[in-house]
Amino acid sequence: MHIPVLTNQVLEFLLPKNHRGASFIYLDGTFGGGGHTNALYLEALKRNYQNIHFILLDQDKEAIERAHLWAQDKDIKINIFHENFVEIPRVLQQLKIKEVSIALLDIGLSSYQLQDKERGFSFNDSSMIDMRMNQEQEVTAQSILMTYSEEKLAQIFFEYGEERASRKVAQKIVTLRQKNKSFFENTQNFASFIETIIPRRGRLHPATKIFQALRIEVNEELQKLSKTLEIPFFSDRLGVISFHSGEDRIVKRAYRKWQKEGLGEETPRRGLIPTREEIKYNPRSRSARLRVFSRKYPDEI
Ligand SMILES: C[S@@+](CC[C@H](N)C(=O)[O-])C[C@H]1O[C@@H](n2cnc3c(N)ncnc32)[C@H](O)[C@@H]1O
Repeated sequence: MHIPVLTNQVLEFLLPKNHRGASFIYLDGTFGGGGHTNALYLEALKRNYQNIHFILLDQDKEAIERAHLWAQDKDIKINIFHENFVEIPRVLQQLKIKEVSIALLDIGLSSYQLQDKERGFSFNDSSMIDMRMNQEQEVTAQSILMTYSEEKLAQIFFEYGEERASRKVAQKIVTLRQKNKSFFENTQNFASFIETIIPRRGRLHPATKIFQALRIEVNEELQKLSKTLEIPFFSDRLGVISFHSGEDRIVKRAYRKWQKEGLGEETPRRGLIPTREEIKYNPRSRSARLRVFSRKYPDEI
């Protein structure tokens, strides 16, 4: 079960108070477990929005199966796509839609993915070091570990994991990956290997940052987000929930640029973070930040 984060803030800041269009089109670029989609669906019904149309995307096939299940008993127009959100312009073109009412990207990993023993996102289980969100892609975390140069590995551990021992870890990997393959065969062995290089301090497992960095690299998370936000966006209101300072920086910069171009404004200015109660109830929400860009009706917020 995936608990959606910042749901109240999504409902309050992403939904227009008085929706003016003839139809209400919601685009969820990261369906996951459908928590946000369902909350927005119930609220749209409550507010009596007319001609509700939901467009649901996820790059994970299993999330798409959940989306089809969710859609089964809903009496609204729904389109579901197994796509990366970087493909949103193409999806909208295919649907002959120029612009949607609101869009949400809740990036990162779902609890379904983290808890799936086969997917290799967690070092608590023993599985292939996979970490692909899209099961159809070729590159896995293991292929990265076995083929990247020492410099490139050090760079991703430092940039995406903010790991201070990035160089040392990269050097050990490159020295040992041919001699002792067993370290790189599964997530638990790899995590133990990292523990021999980075001593355990505090509650965080020493492999946490290395795993995060590999996941971001495998799924090209920052590149896809930057590319998606490069074009003038496709929505009256866009919300992005990020969990990593690198992602948040990309969102902040894109919003600032759009604001300079006179497209609208970010409201509220510094985004929204979870309350203490939410963090207590759902510790995964701890590092989440929602930023909303509002294009057409900033006066209504
Ligand atoms: C944090 S979960 C979303 C949870 C969802 N909002 C909910 O309430 O259940 C992130 C989801 O986004 C998907 N995802 C991450 N990056 C993506 C991308 N670039 N394109 C499409 N889906 C992506 C993941 O596969 C995962 O299912």
